[in-house]
Amino acid sequence: MTVLVFLDPAHDDGRIVDATQPQLMATDLGATRGDGLFESLLAVDGTPRKLDAHLRRLASSAAALDLSVPDADAWRRAISTGLREFAAAEPNRTTAAVKLLATRGVEGASQATAWVQVTPVPAATLAQREAGLRVLLLERGYDSTVAQRAPWLLIGAKTLSYAVNMAAVRYAKAHGADDVIFTSSDGKVLEGPTSTVLLAHDRDGQKTLVTPQLESGILPGTSQSALFDAAQEQGWELGYGPLEPHHLYEADAVWLISSIRLLAPVVSLDGQELRTSPALTTELSDLVERFV
Ligand SMILES: Cc1ncc(COP(=O)(O)O)c(C=O)c1O
Repeated sequence: MTVLVFLDPAHDDGRIVDATQPQLMATDLGATRGDGLFESLLAVDGTPRKLDAHLRRLASSAAALDLSVPDADAWRRAISTGLREFAAAEPNRTTAAVKLLATRGVEGASQATAWVQVTPVPAATLAQREAGLRVLLLERGYDSTVAQRAPWLLIGAKTLSYAVNMAAVRYAKAHGADDVIFTSSDGKVLEGPTSTVLLAHDRDGQKTLVTPQLESGILPGTSQSALFDAAQEQGWELGYGPLEPHHLYEADAVWLISSIRLLAPVVSLDGQELRTSPALTTELSDLVERFV
């Protein structure tokens, strides 16, 4: 079941359309050039999680793309419409994946095309959370300082141009793994194609949670940020890279975290088993469950 709600100035709360029918113009720059942005977030019991953070990142992606998108209130209203419609169609589901999408619109026009999509969370996504991930380290081909030097690469924006990220995941699957951690050409750990990297140390009860530094050319994760705040309140120390692959092999646990799959343990890296910690995974997953 997919619910689609288009943001439309003529419909305050958004315009629900039939997801089984074509809705985009073939000349939409989102389709012809991948020129646009998106956000993915989780809704639980009809309430979107971390919505302010997602809307803030959407605005920052729009600024990076120099793209004029509907304001936050218009997105909120369309999301509410979508979640209401989804709950009516799927009353037994407690969770939903919500995507916000905006493109530069049809060629020659000046208005963005923007819509909200609500779908069930795929069972395979939930299964990975439980089973853990076999991960390959793959080169991204950029060095870790390129984001500042080359803003036109849109590193740090959540653009629709995710074909490379999806190709990396397919490459991993074709080589016996589930997911990917990208590395920079100067050997730094970056991020997953759709997730942020986390590692933990537990030294005599002092627990430390570490993630790659944002300045290394990665998307700022809303889940990592919310988890860092929650973990700090529980007495965890926090750290920000630079990280290199040996830090992953030396950690007490490594995870990939993102808004829909949430916290998924990494069980192996390039075929080598990693240390895992069910206790730390449970502790951090409990914090993740409480995100609002
Ligand atoms: C490249 C990339 N990094 C990190 C993340 C994690 O971000 P969030 O926690 O906000 O979902 C995502 C999410 O899809 C992503 O695409």
